[in-house]
Amino acid sequence: MWEKGININEVKEIRTGSRIYFGVGAINKINDIAQELTAKNINKVLVVSGKRSYKLSGAWDPIEKALNQNNIEFKIYDNITPNPTTHQVDEATELGLDFGAQAVIAIGGGSPIDAGKSVAILLKYPNNNARELYENTFMPDKAVPVIAINLTHGTGTEADRFAVVSIPETETKPAIGYDCIYPLFSINDPATATKLPASQTIYVTLDALNHVIESCTTNTASPLAMSLSKEAVRLIVKYLPDSIQDPEDLTARYYLMYAAMIAGISFDSTGLHFTHALEHPLSGLKPELAHGLGLAMLLPSVIKKVYASKADILSDVLEPLIPDLQGNPDEAEKAAIGIENWLFNLGIRSKLADEGFNEADIETLTRQVFDTGSLAGLLRLAPIPADENTIKEIYKESFTPLSAVHSK
Ligand SMILES: [Fe+2]
Repeated sequence: MWEKGININEVKEIRTGSRIYFGVGAINKINDIAQELTAKNINKVLVVSGKRSYKLSGAWDPIEKALNQNNIEFKIYDNITPNPTTHQVDEATELGLDFGAQAVIAIGGGSPIDAGKSVAILLKYPNNNARELYENTFMPDKAVPVIAINLTHGTGTEADRFAVVSIPETETKPAIGYDCIYPLFSINDPATATKLPASQTIYVTLDALNHVIESCTTNTASPLAMSLSKEAVRLIVKYLPDSIQDPEDLTARYYLMYAAMIAGISFDSTGLHFTHALEHPLSGLKPELAHGLGLAMLLPSVIKKVYASKADILSDVLEPLIPDLQGNPDEAEKAAIGIENWLFNLGIRSKLADEGFNEADIETLTRQVFDTGSLAGLLRLAPIPADENTIKEIYKESFTPLSAVHSK
């Protein structure tokens, strides 16, 4: 129980590809960051955010103050929505180019931060647009510095080199991954996550949970991915109920933010596989669908498919969720239903049929997995062969609960 020996008010510095300030009060590190930007002769920044959370969370006041005190001019693009689009990225880039922005401060969850990372690239490639970036028509190796102010505990984007943006014209949601978009600095302050509504609290945490379940079962998984995945699952199972019960519980937010961050570090090295490859077409087709909910609907069937090939690892990593797995390949059904029950107990009962999908969509969804380069790339990391039939079976099985006992 090492957590008890940790002072959550002590701000630690954790380095990955990014320098991350982590702990209650970490938001005040924006002063040091502003000074470092000034020392690099950066005096114009573009702030990228959604409409409300950057102020509601309490993050904006100290940021605005630090920018003013350090004579850093800024423009704000606050039009980023959940499942952000290439159009939003292009609009923000235009604002940044007109202003002469030398860095991007992205404030929010995965959507504003991923959009901000994309803008950071395009500020260095003014002749290209966001759709070209996400359709891989050019391969960037430079971006202006990104400062990620993370307000949730899901994506891990504050610690990794990935970004995801939707292309409305093709109803696809590709990902990019480039070293040049590791945030130069990130801030993870649990106090700025306490205003997340209960549903979002659950969805973002389920995103982090899926990151580690996939990360530790990719065919690129390392011992580091095991350590990080096991620990992330333990912390999520322990602290998610606390943060649902009391959104202001800073200890719970601290460990959920920590779990999401180490999940991001884990899959930064290993990549992901089925659940993410199959979810992106869902929220690409229905932008109102929360990424975490899309993942939750697919997870039981994915576990059922991959368990036998990774029984040793999954029985260990999932132990806090399903305590009585022995690591035998024939436990696949039991593991899948165990996950489904855990989700149901959290109140996540929706399946694809409940979210407006019908079986006629399976063909289109499957095509999108194979036709979107970044998603097809994830399939190559899967622990079992990811042929068309397997993908279709996972979608089909995710329309209704696996366990008849729990069917509505
Ligand atoms: Fe994700």
